Amino acid sequence: MTQQNKKIIVAIDGYSSSGKSTMAKKLAADLGYRYIDSGAMYRAVTLFAMENGMIAPDGTVDEDALSEAVNSIHIDFALTSEGQHTLLNGKDVEHLIRSLEVSNHVSPVAAIHSVRKALTDRQQRFGVEKGIVMDGRDIGTTVFPHAEMKVFVTASPEKRAHRRYLELQQNGTPSSYEDVLANVIERDHIDETRKESPLRKADDAVVLDNSDMSLPQQEEWLMNLFNKTEAKVNGRDC
Ligand code: DC
Repeated sequence: MTQQNKKIIVAIDGYSSSGKSTMAKKLAADLGYRYIDSGAMYRAVTLFAMENGMIAPDGTVDEDALSEAVNSIHIDFALTSEGQHTLLNGKDVEHLIRSLEVSNHVSPVAAIHSVRKALTDRQQRFGVEKGIVMDGRDIGTTVFPHAEMKVFVTASPEKRAHRRYLELQQNGTPSSYEDVLANVIERDHIDETRKESPLRKADDAVVLDNSDMSLPQQEEWLMNLFNKTEAKVNGRDC
């Protein structure tokens, strides 16, 4: 009798706009694994805070109000004809959460302890049955420290700003390249220096600098690493 391959957890962390979501999504689709964009969850909570008057015009977040509300916010993902969309309390907010306004407010929201705790718990629940690819900032360090496969993706701030700039244009929310670059640099700084789960490479993560790689090259790199890791987990190590 042939034994079924054990499914694994794939954690993909890295800088904003490093292309990790695109790679993670493709890997999950090729493998028939579930894909979870943890950044979308932080963005959805940020949108919720914006829509409910919890973010002041100067950007200050009402931490007490958000901490009280966060456990009752419902976030899920639905497969649509356009791909996976984020649902906030049942409403499709995929386009809204990608706006520059949400990008500008998300880092302080993601630095709040109660928000991180609530979202980390949910992310861990998504992974109970394994067979999952999750991308974010702290997946290999905090959410799934025992993930079988960990990747840390990086690229220069300019390359990443250029990618985000094109993405915003495609989504119909144009903004200047300079503003996008400033946002990328500021978010890197906040993500790397925040007290709670700062962005850092897990000791056992494999680094991928994709500054000068095409998408197919990145996909091939990721699939090769998956094949090697999965073979090892299933005792087919050679
Ligand atoms: O990957 P992204 O740009 O969509 O993420 C949005 C924000 O959420 C980003 O500023 C950092 C934060 N984030 C986080 O703190 N932890 C995660 N696991 C994922 C995202």
